[in-house]
Amino acid sequence: MDKIIVKGGNQLNGKIKIGGAKNAVLPIMTACILAPGQYKLTNVPNLKDTRTMSELLRRIGADVTYSNHSLIINTENCNTPEAPYDLVKTMRASFYVLGPLLSRFGISKVSLPGGCAWGPRPVDYHLKAFKELGASVELDSGYIIAKGKLIGCTINFENVSVGATGNVLMGAVTAKGITKINNAAREPEITLLCEFLNLMGAKIKGLNSNTLIIEGVDKLSPVKEFEIVPDRIEAGTFLIATAICGGEIELIDANPDHLQTVLNLLVKAGSEINIKDGNIILKSNGKIKHVDMETEPFPGFPTDLQAQWMALMTLADGTSLIVDNVYADRFTHIAELTRLGAIISLEKNKATITGIKKLKGAEIMSTDIRASASLIIAALVANGESSISRIYHIDRGYEKIEEKFRSLGANIWRKSDRN
Ligand code: UD1
Repeated sequence: MDKIIVKGGNQLNGKIKIGGAKNAVLPIMTACILAPGQYKLTNVPNLKDTRTMSELLRRIGADVTYSNHSLIINTENCNTPEAPYDLVKTMRASFYVLGPLLSRFGISKVSLPGGCAWGPRPVDYHLKAFKELGASVELDSGYIIAKGKLIGCTINFENVSVGATGNVLMGAVTAKGITKINNAAREPEITLLCEFLNLMGAKIKGLNSNTLIIEGVDKLSPVKEFEIVPDRIEAGTFLIATAICGGEIELIDANPDHLQTVLNLLVKAGSEINIKDGNIILKSNGKIKHVDMETEPFPGFPTDLQAQWMALMTLADGTSLIVDNVYADRFTHIAELTRLGAIISLEKNKATITGIKKLKGAEIMSTDIRASASLIIAALVANGESSISRIYHIDRGYEKIEEKFRSLGANIWRKSDRN
């Protein structure tokens, strides 16, 4: 299995291009099922997760080809409204096909995702909402089988859920009558999905807000070409890494509007931020001020940058708190950061980080996509060499992360056991 080796201590300087957003492209790929025909998605990152979603669409009967960061998806011949366990268990976002399959075929058979390293990640909001929309929803041998023609209604989500909002949206666009989603997610990836669906002919109002109103339509049509927005989590990862290592980076094609809370906190932590021609420039002398942070749904601080922020705070000039209000159990990175010398204690979903002067390189292990990014960040600033194993997690969500860091001056490379 591949490892990432890092020799810490270098500053990061230079420009990098941020890729398309993983969490935006995955639901949009499934939305292509809704109307038979050919679609082209551009600025699509080359990731394990986009390849898994391509494979799922192929199993459903679509033709999918990828080259030069573009995906051509033809859903004309889709004929198997089913998402099998072997794919869903490796990528929970596969559950997004439930809404589109139900809309197109009147039936959808999707494996329940099962466990996850972040603790329980249920899909009960999705299922309750589809029942409220009139579908029959049953569990059979580990598979959810949803059937029926959906009829618009008001859905009140108990908590904000990105996945449930996206899934229900894709079912509701062709439901009979009006669907209102209260407490909807308003993450940029959901807004982009709404824009894509509206280009297909859907009638969704309330974009960028917590209330979405969907007037069901009889027919949708394919979108010839559509560009995926930049990945705010990849952008945030490189910004946090430079804040801790020191240096100056410019992110090309990052959208500062999607990162406002993160940029504000980085400034509080001691970095200088400038926006030039839409690019984000961060300058840091590597001295970190302690700043408390709580994750919240958008526009709050994203849970997908919590682990990276924790790496930053390990070297702050005092003690800081991190509360994860979105995923209460998403703290597997603490044990690994501790191996590098970090001082962190955890009580329920609240971590207390005592800033120290230096981390020291060690052998560490990735546990999920974003935890891996936090370990790379910590290793980039640690004294000596670190070796990070189980990096298949990072390939799910970051394209060529070590090459991008190397282009900024980091001493980082991938080591294959086969060599
Ligand atoms: C998406 C993102 C993930 C991000 C998360 C929160 C994708 C592919 N993944 O995941 O990277 O960390 O949003 O921003 O876009 N919940 C329930 N029942 C449900 C659904 C959710 O209790 O049916 C809870 C979850 O356990 C969690 C919270 O709601 O505590 C938010 O989860 P959700 O927004 O649904 O996350 P995902 O869509 O799975």
